[in-house]
Amino acid sequence: MQNHYETTLAKIAEKFKRTAKLAAEMNIIPYKSENGTWIASPYDGNSWWTGGFWPGLMWQLYHLTGDEAFEAEARRTEALLVAEFRDYKYLNHDMGFMYLLSTGADYKLTGNEQAKWDTLHAASLLMGRYNPSGFIRAWNHPDQVGYVIIDCMMNLSLLFWASRVTGDPRFQLVARKHADMTLREFLRDDGSVSHIIELDPLTGLRVAEHPGQGYALGSSWSRGQAWGLYGFTLAYMNTKEEKYLAAAKRIAAYFIRHIRPDGLTDSDFCQPAEPERIDNIAGAVAACGLYELARITSETGYTDAAVKLVDGLLAHCSTFEADRCGILTKCTASYHDDGAGRHTNILYGDYFLVEALMKLNGTDPGLWQ
Ligand code: GLY
Repeated sequence: MQNHYETTLAKIAEKFKRTAKLAAEMNIIPYKSENGTWIASPYDGNSWWTGGFWPGLMWQLYHLTGDEAFEAEARRTEALLVAEFRDYKYLNHDMGFMYLLSTGADYKLTGNEQAKWDTLHAASLLMGRYNPSGFIRAWNHPDQVGYVIIDCMMNLSLLFWASRVTGDPRFQLVARKHADMTLREFLRDDGSVSHIIELDPLTGLRVAEHPGQGYALGSSWSRGQAWGLYGFTLAYMNTKEEKYLAAAKRIAAYFIRHIRPDGLTDSDFCQPAEPERIDNIAGAVAACGLYELARITSETGYTDAAVKLVDGLLAHCSTFEADRCGILTKCTASYHDDGAGRHTNILYGDYFLVEALMKLNGTDPGLWQ
C-alpha cells in the first residue's frame, strides 16, 4: 500500500515532468514560478547560487522514477552551469549548492566520468577561496574580502566529497578549518546562529557582525538556522567529529522551539508578529537536517519535528494545480528585500521539500554525500 509521502512524490514527479518541458522550451534554469510560468534567476544569470537546485531536483526525480526525461533535463541545465566556469566572474563560495547537486549528482547516479571532473573543477574553485587565516571567503565584492556566512556550511560537503573521490585530504582539511571557524564565530549561547561575520583577512580575527537576510542585526534568520542545522549535521556525517554533532543538536533544539503550531516557519525567529513573513524553504531545509539527525542519534524527537514541518508544508502551502509550475508556496528569499521573491514559489524550496519527502520515504539518494 502506498503511504502518504509516496503518493505525494508521485504527484510531484508527474507535475515536474510536465513543467520541465516548459523550462526546456524557455532554455532557462528555473529559479521561481509565478502566474503559471518559470522565471530565471534575478541576478548574475546562470552563476546565481541557486542554479544547482533544478538539476538536483531532476536527479532526485530520476532516482525516484527511472524516467529518462528527468535525466535529459538535468543534463541540459548542467551544461549551462559548466559553461559558467569560463565566465567565472560571478562564481562565489556557493559551488557546493551549484555543482554537488548537478554534476555531482550526475556522477553519483550515473557514473558519468566527465561529471566527476566538472565537480572536482568546482571543488578546486571553492578551495581557491580559502584564506589561510582560517576561512572560505563568501562573496567577491572588494569590500567583502573577509566576509563569511553561515550558508557556507552546506558548501563544505563539496570539499568532503572531493577528498573522498581523490584521496587527497587537502579539501577536507580546508572544510574542517572553515567549520571550526563557524563554530567559534557564529554559534550563539542560545543555539541560534548569526548570518554574516566579517573577519580580518590577514589575521582571521573578528571585525564585525553584519545584518543579512533576516529581520535585524542579531536576530535569527530562519533559513540561516536551517543552513547551520543541516550544514553541521553534514559536517558530522563527513568527519564523525562530535563537536559538529553537538552544534547541530543545539541549533536543532533552537529551531524546533520556534516551529509554528501549523508547522510553517517564520522568515526570522525574532521578527515582529506583523506583518506575516513566512519562509517555507527554511522549514524544508530544516526537515532534511532533522531527519539526518534522527538517523544518526535514533532520537525520535527529531523525526517528529521533521514530520511536523513536512506535514505543515503539504497541508498549508503546497499546490498541485495544473496551471501552476512549482509546488511550495510562501517562500521568502530575504526579510526586507523582495527582489528575489517574497511569499511565492521559489524552486529551491521545492528541491528541499522533495529531498525531505524522499528521506521520509526511504528513497533519498544522499546527494550531499
Ligand atoms: N544562500 C543564500 C540564501 O539562502 O538565500
